[in-house]
Amino acid sequence: KRPAGAPDKELAKPVRKVGIVGAGLMASQFALLFLRRLQVPVVITDLDQGRVDKAIEGIHGEIDKLQGKGRVDADTANRLKGLLSGTVDKSDFADCDWVIEAVFEELTLKQDIFAEIEEHVSDEAVLATNTSSLSVEQIGAKLKHPERVVGFHFFNPVAVMPLVEVVKTPHTDDATLSTAMVTAKNLKKNAVITRDTPGFVVNRVLAKLLGTAMHAVEQGTPFEDVVEAARPLGLPMDPFVLLDLVGLRVGAHVLDTHHAAFPERFHASEALTALAEENVLIEKDSKGEPKGIDKQALKIV
Ligand code: 3HC
Repeated sequence: KRPAGAPDKELAKPVRKVGIVGAGLMASQFALLFLRRLQVPVVITDLDQGRVDKAIEGIHGEIDKLQGKGRVDADTANRLKGLLSGTVDKSDFADCDWVIEAVFEELTLKQDIFAEIEEHVSDEAVLATNTSSLSVEQIGAKLKHPERVVGFHFFNPVAVMPLVEVVKTPHTDDATLSTAMVTAKNLKKNAVITRDTPGFVVNRVLAKLLGTAMHAVEQGTPFEDVVEAARPLGLPMDPFVLLDLVGLRVGAHVLDTHHAAFPERFHASEALTALAEENVLIEKDSKGEPKGIDKQALKIV
């Protein structure tokens, strides 16, 4: 059955080489997923070669782990490693049909990256963004071909979470949308098409949950009580552990974006924004299990 709003899959363009911009945690997880599921060359880039090399080393390590678990055999593991390359030269993206960016959530940075990539790729190439709450239309605003831009929003941990939000802007053409839907299917993910609105669907829901949990703590409700109160919701992780998983900078950005768009409906968290620099929220016990919120860091006494 064709997903709601999806154009004819015959319109999809082939994805024979993938470019990934950013060499952080999300980008590395994408690289592994694309390698494993599409088995096509994947090239990863960042500002400096050191970060790129570190990402490649990490992805090789993850492939070794998959081999150790018997999920891929030795030949496949070697082939996947051979398909992966790193560069700091965007001209190496020239023959990519699909480029996805996962850099820091800053609009001008993402706009400039896409404009630079457009100089190198063919007119057919799709430019996808993993932004969690910026406007996808605005990210493509400096392009000659904004119809090739689509949101492709994954969830952490990428290997495990089954969903991708495919974000359609007013300019996204059917070939681009179809390519995104078919690519999601080839990655073995469920795709839903969403409108280009703050937080799309999932982060809109999460912003309410995480923002409310942070607000309760900031207002003096003990951390343990917020965790206990959230328990009947049956979440796989409590809100604070989830915040730690997505990363505090991303979490703070999601809350800020929602507060800016709908100030009467969403809380921003100053404490979280301040903490994001240090990136520590949860105190862990000796086994690494979450023990409680770091009250000192939150300046709650
Ligand atoms: N990275 C990679 N793989 C992971 C992982 C991680 N951080 N955590 C768990 N896994 C893998 C495990 O290796 C295991 O794989 P295997 O079966 O191949 O060995 C599998 O997940 C299950 O692991 P566990 O048995 O430890 O599973 P749990 O039952 O504890 O579940 C979980 C772990 C799937 C992460 C679960 O806790 C969960 O679903 N948490 C909620 C995650 C969530 O809501 N993510 C969305 C965040 S929002 C977001 O990312 C958007 C952004 O824009 C903010």
